[in-house]
Amino acid sequence: MQLPFTEPFKIKMVENIYRSTREQREAWIREASFNLFRLKSEQVFIDLLTDSGTGAMSDNQWSEMMLGDESYAGASSYYKMKDAINDITGFNFFLPTHQGRAAENVLFSVLVKEGDIVPGNSHFDTTKGHIEFRKAKAVDCTIDDASDTTVWHPFKGNVDLGKLENVLKTYPSEKISCIIVTVTNNTAGGQPVSMANLRAVGKLAHDYGVKFIIDSARFAENAYFVKLREEGYANKDIRDIAREMFSYADGMTMSSKKDAIVNMGGFIGFRDEELFLKASTYNIIYEGFITYGGMSGRDMNALARGLYEGTEHAFLESRINQVASLGARMKKYGIPVLEPYGGHAIFIDAKKFLPHLPKEEFPAQTLAIELYLEGGVRAVEIGALMADRDPVSRENRFPDLEMVRLAIPRRVYTDNHINYVAAVAANVFQRRDNIKRGVKIQWEAPIMRHFTVRLEKL
Ligand code: F0G
Repeated sequence: MQLPFTEPFKIKMVENIYRSTREQREAWIREASFNLFRLKSEQVFIDLLTDSGTGAMSDNQWSEMMLGDESYAGASSYYKMKDAINDITGFNFFLPTHQGRAAENVLFSVLVKEGDIVPGNSHFDTTKGHIEFRKAKAVDCTIDDASDTTVWHPFKGNVDLGKLENVLKTYPSEKISCIIVTVTNNTAGGQPVSMANLRAVGKLAHDYGVKFIIDSARFAENAYFVKLREEGYANKDIRDIAREMFSYADGMTMSSKKDAIVNMGGFIGFRDEELFLKASTYNIIYEGFITYGGMSGRDMNALARGLYEGTEHAFLESRINQVASLGARMKKYGIPVLEPYGGHAIFIDAKKFLPHLPKEEFPAQTLAIELYLEGGVRAVEIGALMADRDPVSRENRFPDLEMVRLAIPRRVYTDNHINYVAAVAANVFQRRDNIKRGVKIQWEAPIMRHFTVRLEKL
């Protein structure tokens, strides 16, 4: 018999979680204005809000914390991080930042000007926020297959090269800040981008004289999918695959809270010293001196170690399979989930789950509230609430995909937790016809409203 995959770690420390009653949850979610971001974490039983900063560090990472060098300038921790980044990504220059969006802020301060165009594959919300805040425009060039939750495409995160070239032909190169490709493509369902696609984007960027940046939060999971699904990579090492991915780009932004398995941290990687020097000034203004950039020395140490642990094959195999096991269980219960399953999360198609709810009543948010009420599971809406209003017309944007994301923290939950989550979703699915109305907005912020929005149940 072929032996199953297993976690390449055992548990040394546990954190107790509280299983609340439905009555308690009904009161708490009302107090939270039906916004799951407003809940206290102890009001949540299984927290699948995000896989960002929620991973469990290893004993080796914790011991690295004790070795942190907290010097303002030139700390050994900075050099440890620099060596790890150079080894894993191939980029020679880097700037630490306190997290991924800070990396975007610093880099875009150099690259993005008012009126610019930033093509890419379904920019993440903070990425888009930083672009639109600068009065530039993010143009989504993801392949059309990405918006069909049932089509099986091995690399559903891919850039449509025709759409991209069209943008590159339409605007002069000085109007295009850069091309941003997110690996894996979070907004499109944690879907990977193929090596062939990255290579082709790199060539187009080069041909048109535009910079190519990889939003790398989940680069290791992307590399694992390349190994699994792309011809010619089955026998390659994850780290070699990752280095090849980065070799086509001019730079990277990284939220280390994902694939580097730390609770806080980020960085920007650069190939070219000129861009690094320009960005350094902004790093000093916004983040901190260039050898710490908003991070403690101990956190830089843990991050350096995490880059290696996050790119280990055995770890990635157990992680991706755990996520897939949630998808497979839900599918067995008849729940409409996005396929193929994402690297870090399972996405439920809320339009199919609650087809009778109009989009104006936010079906994905309604479903996320029901999952919480049913079993204390916290997921996140990736749909019309998150898509915000059009910055010019101020009309609500209704994206093709209206989804609930269940993101799995790294090395945190057991398979029993995963079974429990699938059962919670199955119970809600069984009573879906009784969910007759959704929610309406009571108050919202002008940008990134989903974090703080106050809702009312209809
Ligand atoms: N890029 C991607 C693809 C992301 O998924 C995120 C964060 C960021 C950039 C920003 O990084 O949080 O460190 O500032 N994603 C989290 C999520 C928040 O839940 O998907 P950050």
